[in-house]
Amino acid sequence: MSATAVIGLQWGDEAKGKIVDLLTDQHDVVVRYQGGNNAGHTVVCNGQTYKLSLLPVGVLRPQVTSVIATGVVINPKALLGEIEGLKSRSMPVGSNLLISDRAHVIFPHHVAEEAALEESRKDNAIGTTMRGIGTCYRDKAGRTHAIRVGDLYYPDIFRTRLADIVAQKNTILRALAPAFTPLDAGQIAEEYLGYAKQLEPHVIDTTSFLHKSLAQGKKLLFEGAQGSLLDIDHGTFPFVTSSSSSGCGIHSGSGVPERSISRMIGVVKAYTTRVGGGPFPTELNNAIGQHIRDVGREYGTVTGRPRRCGWFDAVAAGYGARISGVDCIAVMLLDVLSQLDEIKVCTAYDIDGERTTDFPSHVEALARAKPVYETLAGWKSDICGVRKLADFPKAARDYLETLGELLGKPVEIISVGPDREQTILD
Ligand code: IMP
Repeated sequence: MSATAVIGLQWGDEAKGKIVDLLTDQHDVVVRYQGGNNAGHTVVCNGQTYKLSLLPVGVLRPQVTSVIATGVVINPKALLGEIEGLKSRSMPVGSNLLISDRAHVIFPHHVAEEAALEESRKDNAIGTTMRGIGTCYRDKAGRTHAIRVGDLYYPDIFRTRLADIVAQKNTILRALAPAFTPLDAGQIAEEYLGYAKQLEPHVIDTTSFLHKSLAQGKKLLFEGAQGSLLDIDHGTFPFVTSSSSSGCGIHSGSGVPERSISRMIGVVKAYTTRVGGGPFPTELNNAIGQHIRDVGREYGTVTGRPRRCGWFDAVAAGYGARISGVDCIAVMLLDVLSQLDEIKVCTAYDIDGERTTDFPSHVEALARAKPVYETLAGWKSDICGVRKLADFPKAARDYLETLGELLGKPVEIISVGPDREQTILD
């Protein structure tokens, strides 16, 4: 068994990209298996900051093969833009990038439909990234209006199918938003055939490639996007993303059985953040929440939206750890809490007078959950330079120990800053 997986245990943005980047040296293949350009990974590599969205973090290391596997939804224009952006920074992407011919394609009607649907939900909007992710996954499940990467290489069939799909989408879109200007199927078809030509050298059957890689003893690294609590099946539905963003998605999204994975690393922030709508029991709408947002620079990589910030929620992250089946924990951004006098951790919920450590299955129950807190002392000192567990102030070690105990898994990685060196491996 030679595969590792890096999975977020909260509502995304756990700084998974840094862990993936750290581990790429020890792996041959990095695999994105779900989500699309809704994801945002900020990685500092050789002193340069890179913001990646659809491209696996592995593309920053040319010796590593990066795979965009079957479960990902691909906006080809956005993907080519990212590839171009790296090229302009002398980081060309060549045969080290492989794209699944089974992955589904995002079209302009997906983005337009999502905008109309979100608009119609008004105060109850999901708060999506507006990238057409959910509408593309919906069409994938519906089958009749879906187009996969491989379909782009049968131009005549593609043109005919797209014309039918766009005609129906125009009718739906005009009903949702009467001022909508109809989309031109012919123009979109030619545009997408152009993208397909540019991407062709990268497009293969990635499932077959991954199985051959495993057979050759290559080491695979699975890079989760978003977090376990945004999982379509197990997250805070409907305030979730539309893919299996917990560890559950690895098998379906890549075609590689989960038993191939020998180390599943669950990544958490030392506190909690969330972007978009949905209940968030430990949210801090006060000066402490603002302090965490400012110090942690908690603004979305993709949309720039300020993230909602709160205390660490061990009920939520513990649930994320269980559904993803993690072996160990990476605690990120611990340094962000350094100036606080005391730090709270949610150890249970009180829901209608009943205390529970179970994560509720319905958002209405989660919305009523009052956090039960354990209060720990802050360490009130700069820990950005710490490189060994033993060198942390006792209060910081106590905090890490508490998180590990509550999550039931050992904390094996701690991050105290964006640089590779600011990482403690226990
Ligand atoms: P969608 O994935 O654009 O459909 O958005 C659905 C929900 O997932 C929204 O609350 C988004 O803010 C959230 N979301 C999607 N991608 C990310 C991410 O990479 N980090 C954090 N939240 C995300």
